[in-house]
Amino acid sequence: MDSFSIKGGVPLHGEVTISGSKNAALPIMAAALLTDEPCVIRRVPDLSDTRFMVKILESLGATATFTDGTLTIHAKKIRGYADYELVRKMRGSICIAGPLLARLKKARVSLPGGCIIGARPINLHLKGFAALGARIEIAGGYVDASAKKLVGASVFLGGRAGPTVLGTANVMMAATLGEGLTVIESAACEPEVVDLAEFLNAMGARITGAGSPTITITGVAKLHGAEHEVIADRIEAATFLIAAGATDGEVTLKGTRPEHLRAVIDKLNEAGVAVERRGANLVVRRKGKLKSADITTLPYAGFPTDVQAQMMSLLTLAPGISIITERIFEARFMHVSELARLGADIEIEGPSAIVKGGRPLSGAPVMASDLRASAALVIAGLAAKGTTQVNRIYHLDRGYERMDLKLRKLGARIERVEEK
Ligand code: EPU
Repeated sequence: MDSFSIKGGVPLHGEVTISGSKNAALPIMAAALLTDEPCVIRRVPDLSDTRFMVKILESLGATATFTDGTLTIHAKKIRGYADYELVRKMRGSICIAGPLLARLKKARVSLPGGCIIGARPINLHLKGFAALGARIEIAGGYVDASAKKLVGASVFLGGRAGPTVLGTANVMMAATLGEGLTVIESAACEPEVVDLAEFLNAMGARITGAGSPTITITGVAKLHGAEHEVIADRIEAATFLIAAGATDGEVTLKGTRPEHLRAVIDKLNEAGVAVERRGANLVVRRKGKLKSADITTLPYAGFPTDVQAQMMSLLTLAPGISIITERIFEARFMHVSELARLGADIEIEGPSAIVKGGRPLSGAPVMASDLRASAALVIAGLAAKGTTQVNRIYHLDRGYERMDLKLRKLGARIERVEEK
């Protein structure tokens, strides 16, 4: 398993180009299953997760070519069965269920199972499919969804932690080829849902309201091929903003969508990191000393759970007490004990982490536990004195395109150590 070796204490300087969004690309790739015509998707990040989604689509019978960020998918003839061995490796693969159900009127998809950040049920996805008239059976670890036809309905998709992002994507995709009108209430408002709706509309779907809590889908008989460019990855952008702030550097982020980063920029400002907008670019630098800040993760447009871990690394450097409350996933504090190995003082109390910041961090070997926790450890390693070895960075490779190379270009002393 590869690791990163980071010699910390070097402020990041220079320019970095932000990649296309992983979490927008995955459901958009699945949406290509809705048509027998080719779809061209540009700005697809080259990640193990997107490569993996290509494998899943191929296992269903689609062909795919992936060159220089452009992915062409042709799902001329497909089957409705996705194998456990493939699906279990990536939770995001659940978003093939909606398109399969819409196009074939049957989908057999392995239950994705929990993951390190929480239980991750799919009850809301299934509730949506059932509302459209699908029969749902769960047996042997698989979900079987089938319908003679899908018929538009009104469905409320709010759950215990608010709306569901992939659940909204799945039900929206299933409804595109249904009969009549579907209204999703308490829909997720994330920009990735909006991007998917734009792609679906380019394919001939009739969707309005994406980005608001009420999405309306008027079913059509057929969808056709389309071209689309994936939005900038707001989580990658946030990670670089925080890394620049944590190392007291000055970095220009190119190709971002600043309007998707409002909650993050607001909290960075509060923590003493200035972010200036110049068109699609963002320039980040400190404005004096770091300050403590309280954060609660919420569905969009609130502070994203996918940036909670990285922000915690920054706040360990800010004198004073910061309280970070995680409201989306119940077990997303795996980074806390690893940050403690670098000298951070953090206590967990229920859904909150209490960060007593301002102590200098010093390098140590640490273990990455999930994608965003890994990014947090890299940021802490960049800010720490001495050498930090971040082990198990395959988690990071799932969601960050060439992070080590991008950081090196900004002056970081970071090396990938390949295990022979
Ligand atoms: N939930 C339910 N029932 C469901 C679905 C979700 O109770 O049927 C709960 C979840 O347990 C959680 C909350 O609802 O407490 C929100 O989960 P959501 O369904 O929105 O998460 P997701 O769609 O499975 C996507 C991203 C995650 C990101 C979350 C929240 C992708 C591939 N994944 O997951 O990204 O954290 O939305 O914004 O889009 C990451 O990139 O590191 C990552 C984990």
